[in-house]
Amino acid sequence: MNNSTFVHKYIKSLIHAEDICVDMTAGNGNDTLFLSELSKEVIAFDISAEAIRRTKDRTEGRDNVTLIHDSHVNIDRYIKGNVRLFIFNLGYLPHSDETVVSKGEDTLLAFRKAYELLEENGYIVITFYLGHRGGKDEFYLLDDYIRKNRFQITETYSQNKADSPVTYIIRKR
Ligand SMILES: C[S@@+](CC[C@H](N)C(=O)[O-])C[C@H]1O[C@@H](n2cnc3c(N)ncnc32)[C@H](O)[C@@H]1O
Repeated sequence: MNNSTFVHKYIKSLIHAEDICVDMTAGNGNDTLFLSELSKEVIAFDISAEAIRRTKDRTEGRDNVTLIHDSHVNIDRYIKGNVRLFIFNLGYLPHSDETVVSKGEDTLLAFRKAYELLEENGYIVITFYLGHRGGKDEFYLLDDYIRKNRFQITETYSQNKADSPVTYIIRKR
């Protein structure tokens, strides 16, 4: 099972019809579409215009999706709280410009802001890709922060091959 399949299976039971969810990396729109089918409202960010275009196509006809063409670092300009679940699916947009890629320091800042905006017992689902340049540094930076600050990791998933993606599911205490 790949990480996206695991994530979709796992988070089905965490989201309810009245919830607000945020996709921090819209990409091809697969996670945005999935979340929009389970929740009241989804707000999705991406820095890539191509990703926003693909997500718009993917979620056509759904009236509970808002797309924001901006870095997730600026999340607090758009969202004030009460979020049930944030999803980060890091790295770059497949079959696109690979230099438009998530960067550790930005991801850490966005993670910290997201945690503040979560409702109690809400979740952050974050998947790291270790195989591209900077991917391991991003993972080690966030992993170190998460462990040092004793965040509650409720689940981890990886296929246990070299450089396989790693998913953490974190619950707000
Ligand atoms: C692996 S793709 C996401 C796949 C997507 N979740 C899906 O279901 O198709 C990673 C995305 O993160 C976006 N990204 C990278 N850094 C970002 C940032 N600072 N803010 C928002 N999006 C970012 C990239 O542009 C890319 O589209």
